[in-house]
Amino acid sequence: MTDFRKGKSNDIEALERLYPAAFPDEDLLPLVRALTNAPGVLSVVACDGTDLIGHAAFTRCSVAGTPVALLGPVAVAPARQDKGLGGALIRQGLDDLGQAGVAQVMVLGDPAYYGRFGFRADAAVAAPYPLPEAWAAAWQSLHLGDGPAAQGVLEVPDPWRDPALWS
Ligand SMILES: CC(C)(COP(=O)(O)OP(=O)(O)OC[C@H]1O[C@@H](n2cnc3c(N)ncnc32)[C@H](O)[C@@H]1OP(=O)(O)O)[C@@H](O)C(=O)NCCC(=O)NCCS
Repeated sequence: MTDFRKGKSNDIEALERLYPAAFPDEDLLPLVRALTNAPGVLSVVACDGTDLIGHAAFTRCSVAGTPVALLGPVAVAPARQDKGLGGALIRQGLDDLGQAGVAQVMVLGDPAYYGRFGFRADAAVAAPYPLPEAWAAAWQSLHLGDGPAAQGVLEVPDPWRDPALWS
């Protein structure tokens, strides 16, 4: 039985096991640690008993004063992938953000995955650092409300102010 709940600061030890397992070729732990301690970050975790088996982070940001969020990273334990957990974590976070008045969610990721939640390529919002041209389709957004689409530069808090995360 899988439970979904908001992330807590003492999840960090479990996240330090989850991320290297889900991303063996990429070290996302500095980002994950920084997000765990940052204000304005919504984390959703999936647990099976005491085992933390999935995590999604959403960072509150803004675009020209419009409240938006940045989705990522998302990780599911390798043995638990392809069973709907990633999708459930993302949908839970999107629901929570929509209820909190967040107008739009940005993500930099595979359109083949994020497209299934309604994310579409978005050239109206600029990433905080110039993205490689080949990643244009990977820079996507999803509108949660009825308001106008955000236009401008995504303003991100400290954990995301690292050009290496965007290149
Ligand atoms: C990406 C990830 C979070 C998805 O979570 P998940 O619980 O495994 O995925 P879900 O069960 O919600 O969805 C499964 C579907 O997504 C597809 N999918 C999974 N990862 C994908 C990816 N990186 N790109 C495109 N499609 C992907 C699967 O093929 C499957 O497709 P189907 O429904 O047509 O069979 C998880 O697989 C993971 O942690 N992967 C390792 C890290 C990684 O590659 N991250 C890249 C994120 S873009």
